[in-house]
Amino acid sequence: MVKSVILAAGKGTRMKSETPKVLHEIYSKTLLGYVIDAVNDTGLADENYVIVGHQAERVEEFVKENYNNAKTVLQSPQLGTGHAVSMVCPYLENFDGEVIILCGDTPLITSDTLKTFIEAHREMKSDITVMSAVFDNPTNYGRIIRNSDGSLNSIVEEKDATQEQKAVKEINAGIYCLNWQKIKNAFSQLKTNNAQGEYYLTDIIEWGNKNGLSVNAHILERNEEIYGINSKLNLAEATKMLTKRTLDKFMTDGITIIDPDSTWIDPQTEIGKDTIIYPSTYIEGVNKIGANCKIGPFAHLRGGVTLEDDVKIGNYVEVKKAHIKSHTNACHLTYIGDSEIGSNVNIGAGTITANYDPLSKVKSKTIIEDNAKIGSNSVLVAPVTIEEGANVGALSVITKNISKWSLAITRAPLKIFEGWVSKKLGK
Ligand code: UD1
Ligand code: MG
Repeated sequence: MVKSVILAAGKGTRMKSETPKVLHEIYSKTLLGYVIDAVNDTGLADENYVIVGHQAERVEEFVKENYNNAKTVLQSPQLGTGHAVSMVCPYLENFDGEVIILCGDTPLITSDTLKTFIEAHREMKSDITVMSAVFDNPTNYGRIIRNSDGSLNSIVEEKDATQEQKAVKEINAGIYCLNWQKIKNAFSQLKTNNAQGEYYLTDIIEWGNKNGLSVNAHILERNEEIYGINSKLNLAEATKMLTKRTLDKFMTDGITIIDPDSTWIDPQTEIGKDTIIYPSTYIEGVNKIGANCKIGPFAHLRGGVTLEDDVKIGNYVEVKKAHIKSHTNACHLTYIGDSEIGSNVNIGAGTITANYDPLSKVKSKTIIEDNAKIGSNSVLVAPVTIEEGANVGALSVITKNISKWSLAITRAPLKIFEGWVSKKLGK
């Protein structure tokens, strides 16, 4: 089995935020969450070590709450990437397998790429494999320096590079695969004689060469996968890239997205064939949307939503934590939260499920059974059940359960004062 080490101790100054960098989110998942999930999804790794430092407690809490196969290891002070990885040495003294090293701020890395990378490492019978990439603008990355026969010589950081080295376009992506027992002794031998006075992880390349290890680079296919987040600008850019990736996959799988430029869908959402997503729709979190649904324009799904087949969620409809069965429509201006809705239900324009009591802070459930019809501008005050086939008249406030096939209405009676206006105007 493989173990991963995820570097997440850095400060993230350019985020200008009270939140630790790796806990920033894209849709509803943290940057660190994307990286740990990518490692776990390879199916090759059984344990993850997250190196924490800056705002360690918050990152520790996140890891503990969300991942039972991840541990945090404190690095304090932070003396460089080599120093960061050395923090796991006491834990892996006798571990006889591969360690992959990644950064906690590269959320676009995929499990497929990591799998290919580990497989390449094994096929090459490599002891140290570094992931490299070819960038038109390699500024700020460590450069991959190769010998004349193409073999890997070293990695040189931008700040330590000569003009000639700076011209190299093959860069260090910051992901490594190491045969741990062969490399573990390197960490006590790293030096800080470089421009930044840090212990560079990249120095293990030269160490490996000196110690007769097999040292190789594996070139990354899609450069966007190592896009690192350093600022809110990067965060927005990564969200765009992830969204494009997600929408491209949906369209390939038979889902119609009318305007990918104004559509935002969390990759954790599943969508069935022939569903149409209309422009300006925002779908966040884990949702399951069936086949042949119509969503939007201007719809907002907030997570925990299951829509069965042939459901219509129209403009200005917000849905959160709800199960809606087939052939049900909520076409306009509605909020549905904490609800279970049957099939063939019609939810009129302006319907609100009032699920939250701000005094007790309790959220309650609304149940609407098959074939029920909810008139426009109604408020269903949860907990409440509208039984099968019942009708709710427009503008009603429903505070009690409505039994099967009944009509419920709370509207004040209509009064008509004939000629009232003309009398006022003296006509
Ligand atoms: C590093 C690589 C560089 C590579 C680039 C890819 C080194 C010396 N350089 O440079 O070759 O092209 O990544 O993005 O490794 N961190 C810690 N503890 C520390 C220092 C850093 O946990 O003491 C973490 C940071 O939070 C970050 C990661 O390690 O997640 C990388 O550190 P960073 O300072 O960004 O390294 P770069 O200068 O970008
Ligand atoms: Mg960096």
